[in-house]
Amino acid sequence: MAHALLGRSHRAAEPKAQLADLIARTRRLLGVPETYRIGIVPASDTGAFEMAMWSMLGVRPVDVLAWESFGQGWATDATKQLELDDCRVLAAPYGELPDLGEVRPEADVIFTWNGTTSGARVPDADWIAADRQGLTFCDATSAAFSQRLDWEKLDVVTFSWQKAMGGEAAHGMLILSPRAVERLEGYVPPRPLPKIFRMTKGGKLNEGIFRGETINTPSMLAVADAIDALDWIERIGGLEATIARSEANFRALQEWVDRTDWVENLVTEPAHRSNTSVCLRITDPDFARLDEAAQRAFVKRMTALLDEAGAAHDIGAHRDAPPGLRVWCGATVETADIERLTPWLDWAFATATTS
Ligand SMILES: Cc1ncc(COP(=O)(O)O)c(C=O)c1O
Repeated sequence: MAHALLGRSHRAAEPKAQLADLIARTRRLLGVPETYRIGIVPASDTGAFEMAMWSMLGVRPVDVLAWESFGQGWATDATKQLELDDCRVLAAPYGELPDLGEVRPEADVIFTWNGTTSGARVPDADWIAADRQGLTFCDATSAAFSQRLDWEKLDVVTFSWQKAMGGEAAHGMLILSPRAVERLEGYVPPRPLPKIFRMTKGGKLNEGIFRGETINTPSMLAVADAIDALDWIERIGGLEATIARSEANFRALQEWVDRTDWVENLVTEPAHRSNTSVCLRITDPDFARLDEAAQRAFVKRMTALLDEAGAAHDIGAHRDAPPGLRVWCGATVETADIERLTPWLDWAFATATTS
């Protein structure tokens, strides 16, 4: 593991250099343009995304895209907490995407690149206008390092270390385009901002945040772990390699889904299928006849069997999603393990059916 600078002030030279190194490696590995700022901020992805929403929204109309629970969470923030005027929520059920063509170029747009709880992702950013007047806010938590992000189309991008990097949770990464910085410097939101959301001082961006001078005390243990994860990504060949690993994992699982008669991908449109948080629905007619509570109980039996056998942990669908399975196929997973998993899934389904 990278040398964890524990028990030190994060403002001392060595810890500060480590935080700056983490920012530089993130930029290099993700191919973030030099003109974009990258900051390490409090409270994981949620902290990063909400500090951007609270600091920047309200000056333009807003379109929120919501097709699973995290997008719905940002929609709740926009409508019920921030109570934004002229805010549209473009929603779609689990497994589908809303009509991306509905997004207004003059509006700020809020969306998750990869919907972790439904396994539906945007296929690209072609639906975002290059000459848009609004800003795009992209929650890339389960997309970063596994899917290609189109930086030119993205103004605010956030993610956390515990997903595709396989790191310890703690801090959010907040990436800002020059236009996002312009917004921060030119707009004073009509609401109080807690200290951990404040990115400007006297109308100017607090540049220190984007050099590793964090707003408050970071976990240097989590920082060392994140550097370790980035080290590993660098060693295996960078972004191309992590994307290829996720793709291979997804393919191995989907090939099994395609030849198995009791299960389908929750997402019908192949171009919208996630290669990280792959969500599956059970299509067996006997399962389909059960009510939702009985379906959830069935999935629980399956996941308990898999857990007890040590074959898979935590692969039940998210609590807000339709009953089913969710298999993490991110880069830290070995394709051979996905291949080993699939017979266990068949076994758990057959055993839960007869128990
Ligand atoms: C798409 C998405 N957004 C937000 C979050 C919340 O992230 P955090 O727990 O890092 O705040 C998650 C967590 O899984 C996520 O997948």
